[in-house]
Amino acid sequence: MKVEISKETFDKTKTELLAVGLFEKEMSDDAKKLDKILKGALSSMMGKEQFTGEWKQAELVNTLGNMSAEKVLFVGLGKKNEFSLEKLRKAAGIAAKTCRDEGIKKFATTLQNAELKASAQEKVQAVVEASLLALYDFGRYKTDRSKEKKVDAMSILVDAKQSQDAERGVGRGIIYADATNFARDIVNTPSNIMTPQAFAEEAQKVAKEGGMKITIFGKKEMQKIGMGAIVMVSEGSDKEPQFIVMEYGSGRECIAAVGKGITFDTGGIDVKPWDSMESMKSDKAGAAAVLGMMKACARLKPKVRLIGAMALTENMIGERAMKPGDIVKAYNGKTIEIMNTDAEGRLVLADAISYVEKNYRPSVIVDLATLTGACIIALGFHASGLICTDDKLAKRITDAGEKTFERVWQFPFWEEYHDVAKSDNADVRNVGKEKYGPGVISGAVFIKQFAEKTPWAHLDIAGPAWLNSGREYIPAGGTGWGVRLMVQLIEDWQP
Ligand code: BES
Ligand code: ZN
Ligand code: ZN
Repeated sequence: MKVEISKETFDKTKTELLAVGLFEKEMSDDAKKLDKILKGALSSMMGKEQFTGEWKQAELVNTLGNMSAEKVLFVGLGKKNEFSLEKLRKAAGIAAKTCRDEGIKKFATTLQNAELKASAQEKVQAVVEASLLALYDFGRYKTDRSKEKKVDAMSILVDAKQSQDAERGVGRGIIYADATNFARDIVNTPSNIMTPQAFAEEAQKVAKEGGMKITIFGKKEMQKIGMGAIVMVSEGSDKEPQFIVMEYGSGRECIAAVGKGITFDTGGIDVKPWDSMESMKSDKAGAAAVLGMMKACARLKPKVRLIGAMALTENMIGERAMKPGDIVKAYNGKTIEIMNTDAEGRLVLADAISYVEKNYRPSVIVDLATLTGACIIALGFHASGLICTDDKLAKRITDAGEKTFERVWQFPFWEEYHDVAKSDNADVRNVGKEKYGPGVISGAVFIKQFAEKTPWAHLDIAGPAWLNSGREYIPAGGTGWGVRLMVQLIEDWQP
């Protein structure tokens, strides 16, 4: 969809549909003007309580030639004192999807002009970002797309004196949304197509476009340097594992992001039941978020050094597949006793994190992984679990998450928990001994063995990375969760 800025006023703009936000039971000056043009249609709807501006209400009105816009869509913004940037995103998502459903090709919006303690740039970014995110559709494998409705263009109506801020907001909204939709595409692409090698090709394209250095290790290279854990996870599959490292920028501050990229998780020999396996093409969402983050940063050019590492493999069943009790040596030399082959994410992260720590010495490491079902039980689908060894880093991540509304919730990481990874036969085991242990924390205790010196944060994104039912601006399926959070974190980074 094309996005443009227009300095026209709402009453003069020629468009198929004009989206207008109204606070609950409030008639702003613009609303009064509009009501007059529409010969009292708005006040009459309000009088009948057909439309009151209640949060998420949407009412489509035909202007019957009374103004240059053919239709007006009134969107309820709810109570003014409860309004927020996130509500603005949601309202924009509702408006964009209504346009699509109505078969509108081009629409204009004034939603960004709603009163809110935020800059014009932030408000425009929110509207643009959410509209592009809401209209995302993973339709590329449907052969007949002739009946699909598609919005071609949106125009953002702003005051002339705000047009520069608005331009910046449009630019940023497009970058954030494009990178997120790109990550969604990767997550939604099934495992027979988005193999580790296909993922590596995508990463190569991103690196080339963004002028970033990229290093890709195949199975042999990984074996040679001692990344035994990833190699072990890949043994059950006929597809070659890939370890990808991308580099951006320079400077003393270096943020490293590490993503779990299991292109399909059957559980391995500890096979998953069918209903848990159905959506397991999404087990590469962490790696997809890291790649999306790199893609966005290559365009935004933040002044920090970035490392994006992605560990790609399938977790399959086969005659060479790892089995419970097997022992393997990870990149940092620690031996791992594999007690459950379905706890494979932490195995690939073990090698990837220790590789990044040793070879790049970043200031911080953040890993993103669809790591545990336990995290979904704890937090559901509205937040990721956060475990962090550094309070300052935890605060930065939490703040970035509040801004983009990809919220995180921190778990305790007291030393009393740290025994769960102890093994009788090797240095560590990949699952705790207790049947009903603290799943999220145990996963992190294991991974911590491989983030030895660097301030480290672990984001368990198992819940929000994949949705069975869509939301205002997040369609069902892969959500691209974490891209916007990470980009915000990087942009706000102050040494
Ligand atoms: N990929 C799964 C976690 C997951 C579950 C992600 C549901 C998204 C939705 C992970 O590899 C896994 O299977 N974890 C096990 C760990 C257990 C064996 C300690 C789990 O959560 O059951
Ligand atoms: Zn698993
Ligand atoms: Zn997994």
